[in-house]
Amino acid sequence: MRCKKCHKKASVELRRHNTSFCPIHYIEFVSNQVSRNIKKHNMFTSANRVLLAVSGGKDSLALWDILTKQGYNVTGLHLKLGIGNYSLKAAEKTRAFAETHELQLIEYDLESEMGLGVSRLSKSIKRAPCSGCGLNKRYFFNKLALQFQFDVLITGHNLDDEAATLFGNVLHWQEQALSRQSPILESTHPNLVKKCKPLYTLTEREIASYCLLLKIAYQEEECPNAAGAHSLLYKDLLNRLEVQSPGSKQQFLQGFLSKIRPSFRSQETVTLNECDSCGMPTTGQVCSFCRMWERARKLTDPKLVNGTSNL
Ligand code: AMP
Ligand code: FES
Ligand code: ZN
Ligand code: ZN
Repeated sequence: MRCKKCHKKASVELRRHNTSFCPIHYIEFVSNQVSRNIKKHNMFTSANRVLLAVSGGKDSLALWDILTKQGYNVTGLHLKLGIGNYSLKAAEKTRAFAETHELQLIEYDLESEMGLGVSRLSKSIKRAPCSGCGLNKRYFFNKLALQFQFDVLITGHNLDDEAATLFGNVLHWQEQALSRQSPILESTHPNLVKKCKPLYTLTEREIASYCLLLKIAYQEEECPNAAGAHSLLYKDLLNRLEVQSPGSKQQFLQGFLSKIRPSFRSQETVTLNECDSCGMPTTGQVCSFCRMWERARKLTDPKLVNGTSNL
């Protein structure tokens, strides 16, 4: 196996591109994919203040590394979710990366700010941890990006994440979710920050190889609440398809984005109100984040749960 660029010994094979690279040219390939995605979709420029949601996993740490090397102005945001040891290790990896590379990091602790972390919150409202967790993440990513006046919020979602989400949305014909599935979501309300996913064309394996070559220490452990999640089943199915037919995941996602998603655009005109409780955009009167925490307040010792006014 020889590198496509320099013909030296290759160390990473990319079957879906029918090519191989040596370490130097592989790192260049990953970096080029990211800069191409950013430019193609006008995600942001070096004049923008970018907030990157960093979980401590391979995707967000690799993205932080790539964008910093490309000269972008990127600050990390880590949410401490309160999922036992898993969250402690995630915060450790994130902090270690920020300190070694002298990068700015904002940390937000759900338990100390809201009174409950994801584990205790989901028990109190009797809801699957992942759905409450996802809602908190989306809410605080947006809220903190606005509060600290960032131009754009970016996440480390990769091709596997996006193809699995698409698979689930198609399987259940979730029209609303399909209309929003995109590597870039422009702001449609003064209280909604622009959101982008610069890694959406790279697979989990490709990003893991990047981290391995650059010795980026990331959290390898999966969230304990992910066991049995549908998204893992969809990822597994798509991986099996990919082995038989390299490039399937990319075709599935790119085909949707270029051929199908544009027809959803006309349906995107959803009226957004301001939540009666917190002022954030919502399609109803009170947003789902406030409704969830109101329920937690009713079902738990009210002294434990803080009001949204404390945000
Ligand atoms: P996940 O939802 O765990 O698949 O993560 C998708 C992306 O969300 C990651 O690549 C991060 O950009 C972001 N993310 C997930 N968990 C956190 C967290 N605890 N703090 C900050 N960002 C996160
Ligand atoms: Fe949120 Fe697993 S990361 S429940
Ligand atoms: Zn090479
Ligand atoms: Zn609200």
